[in-house]
Amino acid sequence: MTARFSWGTFDELFLNDLATRLQGRRVLETFAGNGLLAHHLRQRGVDIHPTSLFTGHDGHDQGMHCEVEKIDARTAAIYYRDSHDVLLMCWPTPDECAMQSAILWGEERPIVFIGEVTDLERGHLGGCASDLFFELSRETHSFESYESARSGLDRAAIRELVPGAAEEYRRRYQPSAFAQFLS
Ligand SMILES: C[S@@+](CC[C@H](N)C(=O)[O-])C[C@H]1O[C@@H](n2cnc3c(N)ncnc32)[C@H](O)[C@@H]1O
Repeated sequence: MTARFSWGTFDELFLNDLATRLQGRRVLETFAGNGLLAHHLRQRGVDIHPTSLFTGHDGHDQGMHCEVEKIDARTAAIYYRDSHDVLLMCWPTPDECAMQSAILWGEERPIVFIGEVTDLERGHLGGCASDLFFELSRETHSFESYESARSGLDRAAIRELVPGAAEEYRRRYQPSAFAQFLS
């Protein structure tokens, strides 16, 4: 039997709420893992294209819930940004891939984000995406139906990159900052 593993918490109330919000829109999912969320949303009539790499900790080795295209989130954003209306990511990896894919997706375009949220002002260090992702995007809608069965730091919300996020990201992101410790 295929394990119903997911990092996100998907109960009926939340899935119905999310599906209602996504109805009639073409959804690109990145970081989809074993495809469980896409499966649930398709059952509720959502037009969704799940994509992911399969690098581990996502349950894909215990069975897939639907076909998931194997593709990096940034490449998926480039390929599908013009043919889709909403970007969805559930528990993206804690690195810059989510932010970079969001930039390629475009500023002020809807991104459904499910996962742990970093809020440095409140001392909350989440395990998803990067600090710059949260700093340079804002929440436009919160799914109050989402009930975390994990850390409680995770939320489900619609976010969008703020205007100028791409330029600010290029100014602030310094991948070579670690080099000083190695010399
Ligand atoms: C923490 S898991 C979340 C999986 C699923 N969304 C869930 O909630 O259970 C992160 C997923 O993103 C995939 N991944 C890692 N880096 C990626 C990248 N650069 N582009 C696309 N997917 C990536 C991993 O292989 C894994 O399937």
